[in-house]
Amino acid sequence: MAADCIDIAAIFLQFPLCNERNRSMTFSDEMLRWYDENKRDLPWRHETDPYRIWVSEIMLQQTRAETVSRRYADFLARFPTVFDLAQAPEEDVLKAWEGLGYYARARNLHKAAKIIVRQWNGKLPPSAEQLRQLPGVGAYAACSVASIAFGEAVPALDANLARVFSRVIGRREPLASPADLYPEALAHVSQDRPGDFNQALMDLGATICLPRSPKCGICPIFGSCAAGQSGTPEDFPEKAPKPLRREIQRTVLVVLLNGKVLIRQRPSRGLLGGLWEFPTLEPWFAPDALLGEMTRAGFLAPRQLQELPPAAHTFTHLVWRMHGVLLHCEGAPADLQAADVALLNAVAMPSALHIYRKCAMDAMK
Ligand code: ADE
Repeated sequence: MAADCIDIAAIFLQFPLCNERNRSMTFSDEMLRWYDENKRDLPWRHETDPYRIWVSEIMLQQTRAETVSRRYADFLARFPTVFDLAQAPEEDVLKAWEGLGYYARARNLHKAAKIIVRQWNGKLPPSAEQLRQLPGVGAYAACSVASIAFGEAVPALDANLARVFSRVIGRREPLASPADLYPEALAHVSQDRPGDFNQALMDLGATICLPRSPKCGICPIFGSCAAGQSGTPEDFPEKAPKPLRREIQRTVLVVLLNGKVLIRQRPSRGLLGGLWEFPTLEPWFAPDALLGEMTRAGFLAPRQLQELPPAAHTFTHLVWRMHGVLLHCEGAPADLQAADVALLNAVAMPSALHIYRKCAMDAMK
């Protein structure tokens, strides 16, 4: 055991939770009791269809519950069953995902839907181990879907649950991965209601056991939380150093040709794969250097340069610093496609570029 880990973990795992309310309640009983009274009313919690639960858990992996709440019903209206999702063109799936970010999730969801139809007769594989074999389903999603949709007693350890468990057992050292706490979490999962237990901890992590200023005063498990008892719960766990993000300066070209705007599709693999974007030069070019640069890149007679607002977008390991310009030209490189307002609206474009899409729309009016 790490030197800075308060040694209540072993005790905690062996004994029921004791507090003033009910001296024989276990940790999971207490969490479930709290959940029954306080759970957030979220759209996917009214679903029992494993496909719909899977969609929600993939959406929730890197997107806030409030955002998913707004987008979930529309996605399911467009793809009500795994068959609808499997049959759709990838382009449609990406469009339905627009604005949710981390588009690999949408591409993998689509690939996995095809596998589920082909190999599983349209039914989701019913265990965490089997779910884990699907594209885009990592340990967290496999366990959350298995516990919520199929009642398998496995912990859905994401960063929030890992924080809650770190605090409960008093583990201060930074986590390399939430999975570091799998044995401790597994020992606590409710055998009867594992899906509710996991979601109870998700709600606790989202509303009470916050990274900064946790609300220990109203926490249902304060009495058995080592970090809470220490008086400085926000010190658990310590933060791992943030990864350094590479910054890339980009000149985003909103180019009009015969009243339409020029766009291109990104390669299907890699960052924002398959999404549409405006042609872009790297790095940033000052306006007087840009026209020559564009001519070299294959634009014919670029002119009437107008600067657009700068914008930035942060990815996991990367920051784009974007400098937008609006121009006109008389000819363009062959890989570009001319889009009218309807097409520009129809293609999936990363939210990083929505500001420039709006500028293009305005310019085409
Ligand atoms: N985050 C991930 N899964 C969730 C769920 N089922 N409910 C609330 N937040 C979540």
